[in-house]
Amino acid sequence: MPERLKDRVAIITGGTSGIGEACVYFFSREGAQVVLAGRSEEKGEKIQAQVLQEGGRALFLRTDVSRAEDIKNLIQQTRERFQRIDVLINNAGIGQQIPLHLMEESEWDRVLDINLKSVFLCCKYTIPVMQEQKQGSIINMASILGLVGFRGAGAYNASKGGMRLLTRNLALEYAKDGIRVNTICPGFIETPMLEKELDPETLKAMAQLHPLGRLGKPEEVAGAALYLASEESSFVTGTDIFVDGGYTAQ
Ligand SMILES: NC(=O)c1ccc[n+]([C@@H]2O[C@H](COP(=O)([O-])OP(=O)(O)OC[C@H]3O[C@@H](n4cnc5c(N)ncnc54)[C@H](O)[C@@H]3O)[C@@H](O)[C@H]2O)c1
Repeated sequence: MPERLKDRVAIITGGTSGIGEACVYFFSREGAQVVLAGRSEEKGEKIQAQVLQEGGRALFLRTDVSRAEDIKNLIQQTRERFQRIDVLINNAGIGQQIPLHLMEESEWDRVLDINLKSVFLCCKYTIPVMQEQKQGSIINMASILGLVGFRGAGAYNASKGGMRLLTRNLALEYAKDGIRVNTICPGFIETPMLEKELDPETLKAMAQLHPLGRLGKPEEVAGAALYLASEESSFVTGTDIFVDGGYTAQ
């Protein structure tokens, strides 16, 4: 079978853990040059080395997506080194578990900066490159919590809901340039994000909230990302793919 992303250049933010890390491996195995962006040099360089060892192509660029300068640098460096950007996955994100009235203003800003403002900035700098190419796929990692509420997740709900509507705006705005923009809305997925925030008992209960009776795996989300990045989804834009074990069908 031909490689589905042969010679495509793909930026994956938050590529050093969980869903982003799974995307790095899926994409490099399909022939993409992957640029993984994240804060941890140790993790990033380890994944980069692992991909190279497998015969794939990956480059780690240290990036804190809450810093506009870092994002600008990420996009510029990618362009300089690889001349193009075919896929952007806005995946970096943080969770939060606190009722809104107890939340500090600074914490609200932190969640919104990392989960939503970074999407604006990554798109702002990537879109001109994609416009020149007349082609590109932007994938925003939203959530089922961009559709339905969840106790303790006020800022997170707002950030993911905002991301879903921003996606529709971008899809309309840049369709004429051949740029497709979609979200993936995962249900609860077994990643460090979830494991950090919730105890094993709660995780078990969360699994039962999904009609399929379990949590999802990062690879099950990466499969959807691969579809949206590839030519197989060439008529898909401005929409969401729910990878949620039936959670939002209820
Ligand atoms: N795990 C779930 O249940 C779930 C469900 C729905 C959506 N999501 C979304 O999927 C995405 C990936 O989450 P995950 O579950 O793989 O979690 P994770 O914690 O394993 O990965 C998140 C990644 O984002 C990075 N990140 C966080 N802040 C950053 C910053 N300021 N700059 C650069 N990188 C930063 C982290 O370092 C990490 O690599 C997130 O946007 C999350 O909201 C996760």
